[in-house]
Amino acid sequence: MADEDATEAFSGMMKAVKRGDAPRPSQKDLMHKALDCFKNGLVGAGLDLLDAWVYIDIYTHDKLAALSGADRYTPLMQLCYWGHLDLVKMLVWFYDADPNKRHQCSKGHKNAIEIAELGENGADTEQVIAFLRSPQAVPKQLSTTDMDEQSLPFSLSELNSAGENLFSGATMSYIFTDRYGMRWLFKPQELWRAHVDVATSKLMRMVGLPAPLTFLVRDGLEGRQGSLQRMFGVQARELGCNFVEPMFNGQDFDPGKLEPGHTAFLQMHDAFDWLIGNMDGHLGNFIRLDGDFNPFLTILAIDKGQAFKYWRRGWPVLADGTHRSPHDPDWEPEGTEHPNTVYAKMLTWIRREGRKPAGWADLRRDDAPANRLRNFIRRLEAIPDDVYIRILTPYADGCAGAIPGFSKAEFLHGVTEHKNRMLHLYTELHQMLP
Ligand SMILES: Nc1ncnc2c1ncn2[C@@H]1O[C@H](COP(=O)(O)OP(=O)(O)O)[C@@H](O)[C@H]1O
Ligand SMILES: [Mg+2]
Repeated sequence: MADEDATEAFSGMMKAVKRGDAPRPSQKDLMHKALDCFKNGLVGAGLDLLDAWVYIDIYTHDKLAALSGADRYTPLMQLCYWGHLDLVKMLVWFYDADPNKRHQCSKGHKNAIEIAELGENGADTEQVIAFLRSPQAVPKQLSTTDMDEQSLPFSLSELNSAGENLFSGATMSYIFTDRYGMRWLFKPQELWRAHVDVATSKLMRMVGLPAPLTFLVRDGLEGRQGSLQRMFGVQARELGCNFVEPMFNGQDFDPGKLEPGHTAFLQMHDAFDWLIGNMDGHLGNFIRLDGDFNPFLTILAIDKGQAFKYWRRGWPVLADGTHRSPHDPDWEPEGTEHPNTVYAKMLTWIRREGRKPAGWADLRRDDAPANRLRNFIRRLEAIPDDVYIRILTPYADGCAGAIPGFSKAEFLHGVTEHKNRMLHLYTELHQMLP
């Protein structure tokens, strides 16, 4: 099948479902279609598949390989066959893809290295094979890796400028493309602020939430420091599957219309944003890939640049030393979107309507949604204290240098205590809801 055919089949299927002309495909069908797009050379779609088409419980690569089924290439095998060096590196380093793991595919019971050896079309097949056989072909631990220039699969000088990000908010960001055409978003900023983008991306991925891989640009891109993140999806519908669009489509947010799977995702993002003190979860900071009919499609939360900003300014404790209730809609810290966040709006709606959005996890209960949310919050608490501190230390060092009166030790201690109180805070909150 030619590239365009696979892409059209995919977006055609989605459109038919949206119009109501076709039944909702099973999750397995969706994965197979997405894999077909990937197979046919839409490389970005491959990482999107792993980041955004995978329901949280099946986030890991090995499980995806199982889902993709016999006779199918795994994403790593696809990339090896096509000889995409940078993407092979990213899958091995950051997506748990194992080059030596055997998988039953159309060529037999093979591993990715053997598939790379078959790849005739590959642009960089020889380098791919050399990489896969080298000691570098092992996963990088997010908790200990400096996500900077050294951890990028390419050199910054290879990026091509694609202009300003027309969707930037207050601060301009810039889009670049790599040699395979994948988009990267550069946010020029002081390094200590860029550390927040890197740390929050690490933490999200560590707890199983999809987040753009994010790197620190220390040495400068076009002469400026900042953060560089992979962009989800493609920018225009004509470019095929995985067109990226605002999650809530600019309409007012109506919790009464949420799909259960979306509620589940929002509640996890809610807890994560309260963990990191991000009060910027407004409608514009949620995006999705084309396919809103699919209740399993991940809601992608982006833009965590304001995390920790309200430390000692009302978060996580009030002036009287008591703990603030998560995303309290009555709290209006100066200069934030807080009352307009999706989370505050959900709470306001629940109080007004006296009921919950479909699929709402109520931590007073012992049912599947509640257990899933409880497990997720436990996962936040289970980040070891020393790991949490290590990840946040570069940012704390930066704050100590930039913010008068900032105590690094107090901050690291305080946010770690807060982490370990998350389930308690949410259980208390749920006890107060209708
Ligand atoms: N990782 C990403 N993938 C795809 N699109 C993104 C990504 N990050 C940002 N964008 C797009 O760029 C817009 C602005 O980026 P954002 O991170 O929200 O910064 P800010 O609001 O501070 O300008 C977003 O609303 C979204 O449309
Ligand atoms: Mg934003």
